[in-house]
Amino acid sequence: MAASPTPDLGPLRQRLAAAAAQPGGVAVLTGAGMSAESGIPTFRDAMSGLWARFDPAQLASEDGFRADPGRVWTWYAERRDGVRQAEPNAGHLALGAFHRRHPGVLTLVTQNVDDLHQRAGVPETIRLHGDILADQWLGPCRKSPGCATAQAEAGEPPRCRDCGNLVRPGVVWFGEMLPEGALEAAQRAVDRCRVLLVVGTSGAVWPAAGLAGRARRAGAQVAIVNPHESEIDGDAHHVLRGTAAGLLPALLEGV
Ligand code: OAD
Repeated sequence: MAASPTPDLGPLRQRLAAAAAQPGGVAVLTGAGMSAESGIPTFRDAMSGLWARFDPAQLASEDGFRADPGRVWTWYAERRDGVRQAEPNAGHLALGAFHRRHPGVLTLVTQNVDDLHQRAGVPETIRLHGDILADQWLGPCRKSPGCATAQAEAGEPPRCRDCGNLVRPGVVWFGEMLPEGALEAAQRAVDRCRVLLVVGTSGAVWPAAGLAGRARRAGAQVAIVNPHESEIDGDAHHVLRGTAAGLLPALLEGV
């Protein structure tokens, strides 16, 4: 990746300092690029991205899971191991430190299913696409509604002893609804923030991608941190070509 000149962060740092004086003044939307420097692959980066190597229809859809539960479960088990072994990077830590310095100012919204923001000190992170480390039932349990996935019979995937219902990872698959209330909370956050930072997302997936334009229409300053062009660069007032771990510390430290 050709080293692009370090962007001038002065104007945006001033905006962030002013926004930090207001409850809910700063919102952040992150995507897979946020965790790339922690060793977790993105989805659409050429070659290295998951969707460049695997078929999302087979692995990230209910139909794909029903067609071959074992293959999908194994794939998520490998990704789960990757998440457990990963550590928050300097970008996650800079957001966590900002959150501690300015209680009630930051609202962090993520498309990521890892737990690196939470481990970096922002347990309230709004998860738009679920949690890869969580289990849930594929369907409603027919025999004993309310039974916990922890009681499932071991297997790949585990299944209900009574009705055979399968356990699946707690992530949002293509064509599925977002977790209850997550989108509404994210929309409220971008409606009231003065600065929205958009970090490490291609802007290819909606409704998450729509949050940048919504923030701009609500009068917020929108800044994008991404080494490459994204589909929502047009919604930004500031486009910073660089990485999450490289730019977020410089952007937030001392603010
Ligand atoms: P993508 O893989 O589509 O985009 C990752 C973005 O991160 C790209 O624009 C990269 O240029 C950028 N990037 C790469 N390395 C970076 C770094 N070190 N620092 C900053 N940016 C970097 O991932 P998402 O936009 O998150 O959906 O994808 C959105 C959704 O599509 C995901 O949440 C997932 C996927 O299908 C669901 O799971 C429902």
